[in-house]
Amino acid sequence: RYRDPDAAEKMNPFAEQEAWEEHQIGKANLKFGSKDRKSRSDDYQFVFEDQIEFIKAAVMDGVNVDQEPSIDSIEKTMAKSAFEKLQEDRKTLPMYPYRDDLLQAINDHQVLVIVGETGSGKTTQIPQYLHEAGYTKRGKIGCTQPRRVAAMSVAARVSQEMGVKLGHEVGYSIRFEDCTSEKTILKYMTDGMLLREFLGEPDLASYSVIMVDEAHERTLSTDILFGLVKDISRFRPDLKLLISSATLDAEKFSDYFDCAPIFKIPGRRFPVEIHYTKAPEADYLDAAVVTALQIHVTQPPGDGDILIFLTGQEEIETAEEIIKHRIKGLGTKIAELIICPIYANLPTELQAKIFEPTPEGARKVVLATNIAETSLTIDGIKYVIDPGFSKMKSYNPRTGMESLLVAPISKASANQRAGRSGRTGPGKCFRLYTAYNYMNDLEDNTVPEIQRTNLANVVLSLKSLGIHDLLNFDFMDPPPAEALLKALELLFALSALNKLGELTKVGRRMAEFPLDPMLSKMIVASDKYKCSDEIISIAAMLSVGNSIFYRPKDKQVHADNARMNFHVGNVGDHIALLKVYSSWRETDFSTQWCYENYIQVRSMKRARDIRDQLEGLLERVEIELTSNDNDYEAIKKAITSGFFPHSAKLQKNGSYRTIKHPQTVNVHPSSGLAQVLPRWVVYHELVLTTKEYMRQVTELKPDWLVEIAPHYYQLKDVEDSSSKKMPRGTGRAS
Ligand code: CDP
Ligand code: MG
Repeated sequence: RYRDPDAAEKMNPFAEQEAWEEHQIGKANLKFGSKDRKSRSDDYQFVFEDQIEFIKAAVMDGVNVDQEPSIDSIEKTMAKSAFEKLQEDRKTLPMYPYRDDLLQAINDHQVLVIVGETGSGKTTQIPQYLHEAGYTKRGKIGCTQPRRVAAMSVAARVSQEMGVKLGHEVGYSIRFEDCTSEKTILKYMTDGMLLREFLGEPDLASYSVIMVDEAHERTLSTDILFGLVKDISRFRPDLKLLISSATLDAEKFSDYFDCAPIFKIPGRRFPVEIHYTKAPEADYLDAAVVTALQIHVTQPPGDGDILIFLTGQEEIETAEEIIKHRIKGLGTKIAELIICPIYANLPTELQAKIFEPTPEGARKVVLATNIAETSLTIDGIKYVIDPGFSKMKSYNPRTGMESLLVAPISKASANQRAGRSGRTGPGKCFRLYTAYNYMNDLEDNTVPEIQRTNLANVVLSLKSLGIHDLLNFDFMDPPPAEALLKALELLFALSALNKLGELTKVGRRMAEFPLDPMLSKMIVASDKYKCSDEIISIAAMLSVGNSIFYRPKDKQVHADNARMNFHVGNVGDHIALLKVYSSWRETDFSTQWCYENYIQVRSMKRARDIRDQLEGLLERVEIELTSNDNDYEAIKKAITSGFFPHSAKLQKNGSYRTIKHPQTVNVHPSSGLAQVLPRWVVYHELVLTTKEYMRQVTELKPDWLVEIAPHYYQLKDVEDSSSKKMPRGTGRAS
């Protein structure tokens, strides 16, 4: 019933809308949860904790895959009853009754589109069914996921269901983390990783089945994979191709794959009541927290958990803090509320927590990004709170500028989100926007990523695969021609392509790195400036994201002072990151040092991992590891060699103008140069929040631009009207 958005509207009787709006304005008559909480049944606890310990152990151990074989050691670790229970659980999934029909359909057709509601067992079961049916004798089964967390957590789950150690028969591969071994037969991986595997194995000869999962997400890599797997399926009739999706767009997938049959798994769905706010919310984060707490205090704790969709890590952490704070204010009488955050960069050890069943007498509130929309299924959710936003990449092909911004979701997303509440019983979804907004302001579907992103990375990969005619590549939805041209232009500017659009030696080296082309170019260029050692540290630190510095609310001043220590001399954010890494390395990677300096030790460990891999890749492209201690100018030149298209010049009002395609941008307040405002800067990325901000900024000399990229910048671009060297009047303001 729920699948049709209009039906969702019709079935919403607005029955409880009034009551809910009353809670909103605080008139609710708060009922408290039962005082004497029952302890959870021993039986349940036993089975479950065992499971979690196992997942943790498996995830931790998975890294050392070459330990002794698993099956009996696992059976020792995991109580027999728990293993049996898992096998029973597998049989209760909506997928299970269709097992034999599905296997028959796969046997009969080379390409099959599989459609089934999230949680029906597509991701965890289908690869196991195929294994049980003998497909793994002919080669691995690869299953792609758009998100890394999903790949890891699903692999952990499946290894547990099969009673093997993660990384052995069942493994996962995500960027910078390969948890597989020679033995691996079921391989979960991000779509981006399978794309990279094409570079080494263009016919995917080691696979018998490829399952492109979560196809409806239409990530850039998934879209490119469609074209590549469709192509190889023609000359590899033995390769089975499964395209699986949560309900949407199945016909479209079928059409694209030459009318491949569609296998539908009927879902079990319960009605979901949808509630809207009467007026738009000024502060959706606050509204989401208030709504969650109102549900928590007015509804009996045993009746179901709450899922809130937020846009990113920062927002999730803020929400967590506010909830904790407000819960304290509510006194001790209310039931326990367990807060479970989940987002892409959440450390592995903490990911398992969201799957722990809620203890009796308590309630769970899951704070999730889009990841919980379809990639991950969390059992027991009854209430969904949907503020209606997600973080999206947007790209302007005219200027070539890419930016992350918080944008309204589509109707399709809103309906997926609402559906998360009706899996195990009737659910409720609170939309923090008006019914009018839903009907009139939201787009029907999310625009596929390929149409709103920078394509440089993909173009470089396709070129290295020998695919030259990009305009005629078999895209399901072609990207704007302008965006393709822009990508070619950028790769040419970076010297990755020559004038004929052919891959150069630089381009070939760049393609070896699983990084954005500008970062890869920075690394390749470091050879010339004899600072590859420093540059890979910087690249690794940039790849970790914005989670290096830790800034607890009650110690902000201390944290800021500690951070500014790395900025002494206004060296810029890139060099500051390098100093953080080098200092940590000097302390022999001390955890204590991280605490003292308000640095997140987890992020640093990840940076070290990434750095190790980049070091390995340097060897592969025959770049020597060289250090030129503290010659910051050479390091900055190497950075500029990759990032010269991201250069900007200070304006009188304290904002900046980008040089090539003028646009107003600002230094992000978290930058070490936020108070300094050098005349010319190069930046890592743009983020759009209240303004367009440059994140990770370093000062540069304008002459470098002409020296490093003479084909891109001309003297007139970098003439400095107020420079003392130039006679008055000759400098033209750009
Ligand atoms: O792929 P699809 O959404 O159809 O379902 P799935 O991911 O295979 O999940 C099937 C069931 O496995 C879910 O209902 C979860 O209860 C369980 N599961 C889990 O407990 N832990 C995971 N990491 C993944 C799935
Ligand atoms: Mg799935």
